[in-house]
Amino acid sequence: MVVNPKGGSGKSTLATNLASWCAHSGYRTALMDFDAQGSSTRWAGKRDARRAPIQAIAAYERPEGVTRTFQLRLLPGTERLIVDTPAALDVRLLTEVTRDADGILLPVLPSDIDIHAASHCIGDLLVAARINARTDRIAVVANRVRQNTRIYQALMRFLASLQIPLVGILRDAQIYVHAAAAGLGIFELPPRLARRDIEQWQSLLEWTNSRSEHPHEQLRTVG
Ligand SMILES: Nc1ncnc2c1ncn2[C@@H]1O[C@H](COP(=O)(O)OP(=O)(O)O)[C@@H](O)[C@H]1O
Ligand SMILES: [Mg+2]
Repeated sequence: MVVNPKGGSGKSTLATNLASWCAHSGYRTALMDFDAQGSSTRWAGKRDARRAPIQAIAAYERPEGVTRTFQLRLLPGTERLIVDTPAALDVRLLTEVTRDADGILLPVLPSDIDIHAASHCIGDLLVAARINARTDRIAVVANRVRQNTRIYQALMRFLASLQIPLVGILRDAQIYVHAAAAGLGIFELPPRLARRDIEQWQSLLEWTNSRSEHPHEQLRTVG
């Protein structure tokens, strides 16, 4: 699950790239979108049918005549579920939606406003995690980083001061914009274009994998 109270921090970018990586790696993958802006849903809609399939669920919609359980059902055999969330989830909702997640990723941009917003969100997440007695599954990703800037140093100091791991540092790169526009993840682009960025994802993917190797409950499926 990807969360952050700020819009534009990279939630949908992380969610769609994670989903693309899971699908591309052969896992049966679903991408559930709780944000009414529908970025992940639109991304999945652009995806070429010849690519590794991803079940996209527009969870922000409230269609009439179907139960919530039916609307959110996963295809049988689903192995990875990536959840994209809206900005500005309050603590109660945050506690509720993160309860069943095996891993919670929080992308943070190198900007003063984002660092401030993230520190509040991390406080809330830790409270929520304690409520659910699972503090070990939260991690931060520094996104759109331009090294050697003063604000990058400030972000790194902030992240180092947290009790939660920094599992990825992703640069600011147009490749994310181009991949998104085509319904792809960077892992599905020609390697010569994406090599450097794919390298930056390795620690993040390792962390994600370690989370999904110890699922605390079976993914709910309706056969
Ligand atoms: N590392 C990155 N480099 C360049 N552009 C990025 C990067 N991460 C996100 N973006 C762009 O920033 C914008 C906001 O990102 P998005 O993932 O939609 O944020 P959120 O879902 O948190 O609102 C999008 O246009 C996206 O393509
Ligand atoms: Mg989004």
